[in-house]
Amino acid sequence: MAEQSKKWVLMVTAQTPTNIAVIKYWGKRDENLILAINDSISVTLDPAHLCTTTTVAVSPDFDQDRMWLNGKEISLAGGRYQNCLREIRARASDVEDEKKGIKITKNDWQNLHVHVASYNNFPTAAGLASSAAGFACLVFSLAKLMNVQEDNGRLSAIARQGSGSACRSLFGGFVKWVMGKEEDGSDSIAVPLVDEKHWDELVIIIAVVSSRQKETSSTSGMRDTVETSSLIEHRAKEVVPKRIIKMEEAIQNRDFPTFAQLTCSDSNQFHAVCMDTTPPIFYMNDTSHRQKVLTGCQLFRIIGCVEKWNCSEGTPQVAYTFDAGPNAVLISRNRKAATLMLQRLLFHFPPNSDTDLNSYVIGDKSILKDAGIQDIKDVDALPPPPEIKDKIPAQKYRGEISYFICTRPGRGPVLLTDESQALLNPETGLPK
Ligand code: DP6
Repeated sequence: MAEQSKKWVLMVTAQTPTNIAVIKYWGKRDENLILAINDSISVTLDPAHLCTTTTVAVSPDFDQDRMWLNGKEISLAGGRYQNCLREIRARASDVEDEKKGIKITKNDWQNLHVHVASYNNFPTAAGLASSAAGFACLVFSLAKLMNVQEDNGRLSAIARQGSGSACRSLFGGFVKWVMGKEEDGSDSIAVPLVDEKHWDELVIIIAVVSSRQKETSSTSGMRDTVETSSLIEHRAKEVVPKRIIKMEEAIQNRDFPTFAQLTCSDSNQFHAVCMDTTPPIFYMNDTSHRQKVLTGCQLFRIIGCVEKWNCSEGTPQVAYTFDAGPNAVLISRNRKAATLMLQRLLFHFPPNSDTDLNSYVIGDKSILKDAGIQDIKDVDALPPPPEIKDKIPAQKYRGEISYFICTRPGRGPVLLTDESQALLNPETGLPK
């Protein structure tokens, strides 16, 4: 390493999107390498609204690998972090920065330590796939720092070892995680199906019910399912392979009715195998605390509202999908459907009167404008959706949703070259 006497810090900052599965990954055939028992397909969400930003830095002055998540130092001792760090280091190449007088050879990387600072612009572990964006960003940014000469497909196989769903965040648009057959996991990688421009009519609304950390982690939940559910094998062997083929076709052809039917069915089946687990996992209606009883009911109400509306229109307007946390993801066929969906959601789930509309609907606020809603009083004036023909008046559940995020399919990881966006101080390599 040249110029060892001179202090230097070399940094890279990247931004990586999160993703939501429309055909779910649930169950592993190898816990350490994180190899799935079925293929899965996801849509990448626009990083403008949901993403992780990560800065990685290297300096001869660092005496250990360290990481800060949302400003708080966390341990990198866990096997998943260690696996990612080891795999990236093993692929590092020479790096030279003439301006700064830095020269790092391939072998130097084994002895140099890194600092990592990561920030999510959305709640961590609330079922919004923060670990997906987080590990994807860690691997992507370290690969750039260490000049790893591999494409995003190969990098996805490393991100996968941090968290399965993370491999799908290495690409934009619609992405398939091919489960692979090899024991070493070398063919268990993400492949891009179509980019984010292919089906840019879609609008995605996320109802964030709770920003608490989820109770049952995906990792232990899916382990229990594989060990105890008799339905999971049928799902992985018989159901998902056929759905994957149909889903790929639906995405290629922008066939929304088929896409919506497959997305809703697959979400419902994922929750069915969770219920078929011993002890059962209730991501959608955990009944152990009062707050969660409400949470579950809200989600069922959202499903009911979407199903009723889709049925009354004669063709699906919106698809719903729920991950391992209490949030609903609603994918609308176009802006018009998203506008009508948001009106329905706001009718049933108005904010508390002291809530600012600006913080109740975040992300792409133009949908709010299209819905003719500028003010809380416009929400209160919304008429009941016409498909509600029950004799009992339409129910309202004020204040039961934390907020809504309006977003769309988005791009894959990018490097942020503007140093002002770095999360680490360029002189000290410590959080800013
Ligand atoms: C329900 O990727 O969080 O979101 O691989 O154990 O880290 P680990 O699990 P994780 O599981 C995600 C499960 C899911 C479905 C999906 O994203 O496909």
